[in-house]
Amino acid sequence: MDLGLSGKIALVTGAGQGVGRAIARTLAGEGAKIAVNDLVGERAAQVAAEIAASGGDARAVPCDVTDLAAVRQMVTEIEREWGRIDILVNNAGVLPERRSGEIGIPAFVGSDPRHWQKFVDLNFFGVLNCVEAVGKGMLARRGGRIVTIVSDAGRVGEARLAVYSGAKAAAIGFTKALAKELGKSRINVNCVSLSAVAHEAPMADFLRLDATPENNETLGKVLRQYPIGEGLGRLTHPQDAADAVAFLASARAEYITGQTLSVNGGYAMP
Ligand SMILES: NC(=O)c1ccc[n+]([C@@H]2O[C@H](COP(=O)([O-])OP(=O)(O)OC[C@H]3O[C@@H](n4cnc5c(N)ncnc54)[C@H](O)[C@@H]3O)[C@@H](O)[C@H]2O)c1
Repeated sequence: MDLGLSGKIALVTGAGQGVGRAIARTLAGEGAKIAVNDLVGERAAQVAAEIAASGGDARAVPCDVTDLAAVRQMVTEIEREWGRIDILVNNAGVLPERRSGEIGIPAFVGSDPRHWQKFVDLNFFGVLNCVEAVGKGMLARRGGRIVTIVSDAGRVGEARLAVYSGAKAAAIGFTKALAKELGKSRINVNCVSLSAVAHEAPMADFLRLDATPENNETLGKVLRQYPIGEGLGRLTHPQDAADAVAFLASARAEYITGQTLSVNGGYAMP
């Protein structure tokens, strides 16, 4: 199936590793040119180099997406070089730490407000910043695709992930409103929602794997808290997310907007 992505210009945030890296590589494989954003410049450069080595076209555009001035500067540079941005993937997000088998930050009541700020800044304001900066060009050209990576925590709520859940839920509400605001300009705005993802980071101790509860005690604890043994019975792979993003960014999803597509193996069902 031709996704119609050849020659499109895509900006993927937080694409230096994990889910974002898979999204960048997948869109590149479909023929899109990729602006690889990450806070960590070396990571962005590495992924851009991987894409180039596979015959794709990519450039690293490191910046902190919580800094609106820096985001505007990044978007200006991409548009100067490539003329436009057709696809924005808001992937950069901060995850709760999962140390010693314990999921999440401390219970909300009594937790440190600096912690709340971090989750809201990246998972919500980072999205606002990128949409505002990229949206101007999309409106002027009357077309574009915006896909934001959220979490099932934002759909069904996760105990001990209260602020993360709230920030992701905010991104989902924002997406719906924006879909109504931008629809007449042929800009589609959607979310892809993930459950626990198995990739190299940040859960390196126990997620280098096709998870089974037997792998180790830590993983067992995680899986008992996340009932991932239900449904399709494995953790999400970055490629699962990337395939969904490629579809929503593609010509095949022209009539889909304001939606949240859950890629979770059946973990939570709306
Ligand atoms: N991993 C999971 O289990 C999981 C589950 C549900 C949803 N998600 C969501 O998927 C997305 C990607 O998750 P991941 O597991 O690949 O994360 P990750 O932590 O492995 O990678 C995130 C990348 O974003 C970059 N980044 C961090 N702050 C940034 C900033 N201010 N500006 C630009 N880049 C920044 C990091 O350097 C890193 O390379 C996030 O939005 C996350 O909330 C992840």
